[in-house]
Amino acid sequence: MVLTAAIAERPPSDLTEAIKELRDHRNAVILAHYYQPPEIQDIADLVGDSLELARRAASTDADVIAFCGVHFMAETAKILNPSKTVVLPDLEAGCSLADACPADGFAAFRAQHPDHIVVSYINCSAAVKAQSDLICTSSNAVELVRQLPADRPILFAPDQNLGRWVARNSGRELTLWPGSCLVHETFSEEALLRLKLEHPEAEVIAHPECQQHLLDLADFIGSTSKLLQRAETSGASSFIVLTEPGILHRMRGRVPHKPFFEVPGADGCSCNACPYMRLNTLEKLWRCLQTLSPAIDLDEGLRLRALAPIERMLALSP
Ligand code: 13P
Ligand code: SF4
Repeated sequence: MVLTAAIAERPPSDLTEAIKELRDHRNAVILAHYYQPPEIQDIADLVGDSLELARRAASTDADVIAFCGVHFMAETAKILNPSKTVVLPDLEAGCSLADACPADGFAAFRAQHPDHIVVSYINCSAAVKAQSDLICTSSNAVELVRQLPADRPILFAPDQNLGRWVARNSGRELTLWPGSCLVHETFSEEALLRLKLEHPEAEVIAHPECQQHLLDLADFIGSTSKLLQRAETSGASSFIVLTEPGILHRMRGRVPHKPFFEVPGADGCSCNACPYMRLNTLEKLWRCLQTLSPAIDLDEGLRLRALAPIERMLALSP
């Protein structure tokens, strides 16, 4: 297909078709996180959790990676693929966890704990990754921490809720950076208890970024892809889902005969939807494939320092 030289100003009437044509023309791969709007998930080449998306980004032979997720995810893809063009439909798609851990504050925190192994959740900036010994995701954090030398203390950043859950399940004591996800801190315990009363047969499945008092009410805890697998394999007849509701599109698609209930935020608000993830739209995806911008750019020294702990994770990850 020959791409017209001029960049179209107006989006075409059939955006989905136009995105598919551009993807082929650009030799692009479209990666999407489970929290993306349904229409983006439906057009993606791979929908996955942070670990699956990082793995795919590490192995793709596409020239362009269109990352439908948030900034740290696209940045990770760029760290793994310096020669490829990595575009993010909306550069403002950040993450409250990454924002809660500025590089200079993190450097001061590390300096207070010089003998610690530094484990950082992938939801952080390249500048924080570059200061870490090991990166983890919610999918592999427990297994990775269990593999660390028993005689070394561990720092864990930036999510304290995930960190507490990892400590409980790995048997290791972790010194925690006090960050949290604004979405996973918003779920209402009262609404959850009401849903449990209304649907006593339902299984409560939760992401480990939730606060401990909610995790204590969960029957199963795991990353987004583990929650999806659980919905597929559990014998329960319905599910109460404690994570960003974008995942429900996939759950309902894979398990169409079972009901899934989302837990609202306090006061019944819809702030359980990640405001950053929802910035990406089909139109912005079309535009970024057309213009190849906004693209992720990284200083090479920083990239190399951030790459080492990501490669360690990929090598150690089960
Ligand atoms: P996953 O590791 O399940 O993809 O979680 C990423 C995330 O941002 C959760 O809020
Ligand atoms: Fe970040 Fe929370 Fe959004 Fe995940 S849901 S991308 S942790 S703000």
